[in-house]
Amino acid sequence: MSFELIRLTDPVDHRAELADDVRRGLGSHPKWLPSKWFYDDRGSALFVQITELPEYYLTRAETEILEARADEIVGTVTPDEIVELGSGSSTKTRILLEAMRRAGTGRRYAALDVSEGALKDAGSTLVDDYPWLDVEGVLGDLLRDLPRVPRHGRRLVIFLGSTVGNLAPQERPAFFRSIRRGLRADDAFLLGVDLVKDEAEMVAAYDDAAGVSAEFNRNVLVVINRTLDGDLPIDAFEHVTRWVPDASAMAQSLRATRRITATIGALDLEVSLAEGEEIHTEWSCKFTEERLAAELADAGLAIARWWTDAGNRFGLALIR
Ligand code: SAH
Ligand code: TRP
Repeated sequence: MSFELIRLTDPVDHRAELADDVRRGLGSHPKWLPSKWFYDDRGSALFVQITELPEYYLTRAETEILEARADEIVGTVTPDEIVELGSGSSTKTRILLEAMRRAGTGRRYAALDVSEGALKDAGSTLVDDYPWLDVEGVLGDLLRDLPRVPRHGRRLVIFLGSTVGNLAPQERPAFFRSIRRGLRADDAFLLGVDLVKDEAEMVAAYDDAAGVSAEFNRNVLVVINRTLDGDLPIDAFEHVTRWVPDASAMAQSLRATRRITATIGALDLEVSLAEGEEIHTEWSCKFTEERLAAELADAGLAIARWWTDAGNRFGLALIR
């Protein structure tokens, strides 16, 4: 019916936040950068390519569960609206939107993402394909902006793609508590999580043969160079991914293949890396049902229903 974009973050604040993160992250030992800065237009397009790679089982496994359970989910919750965190291309969301249409419960969808390009692309194709749907694209940060998304009745909040695993482990308790505070008695929270499995299978998903994950990882440097007038030598960084058992996570980083000195012009900042030094760019935590249930319980949330795909690779939790 209509597509509207709401900006909760304006471009000036967005750039200032990147500047802060770069100053703090690249000034630390070890160096780090938050993963939300991967997702400019190019980064969002690269991520869509990742979801189509043979090694990246996550999207296919989650799609399988959603296709089997969407009617049950929507029938149980009977939402007036679906609100999605980190919506990206909203491709899998279509399965739930179509179930909502079949059930006739609601006709509103609010997508919250940091990527303006992804929101506009997804929003315009959704309203073309689903003339009965009201779509709101909300440009903001999923760690802080859910309370500012206008509410229109009973809500199904969804957070797919195991993006919750991209939060630093120490960020998850506060995140789950903020979800809990945002839910009313009849609302529900649908959370997709990747499950701990064979290490080689997890490593391949983050280090594909075609090199798309490597391009995606390096894209954070492209974003910094463009936005903050930097001269980081993109080609001198290699993509690294490894399983970190203590964090139950895949960790992605960028490793300097030689000694590097660069300047971030807008910050008047000199950045040096020794050969072999790494910049941590992303966590991808992997869960078990038990561990997730325990973390949710600490935040006052409970798993009402739990489903996995046939290969037991991915889990989907309906939480209240
Ligand atoms: N939900 C989609 C996309 C997952 S990729 C799927 O399951 O395939 C992660 C998405 O979260 C991207 O679209 C990215 O732009 C968004 N994102 C990452 N960090 C974010 C943040 N802090 N705030 C808002 N959106 C964020
Ligand atoms: N949300 C994705 C995930 O955790 C992000 C991702 C996929 C990613 N492949 C990557 C991040 C490669 C860095 C490098 O699965």
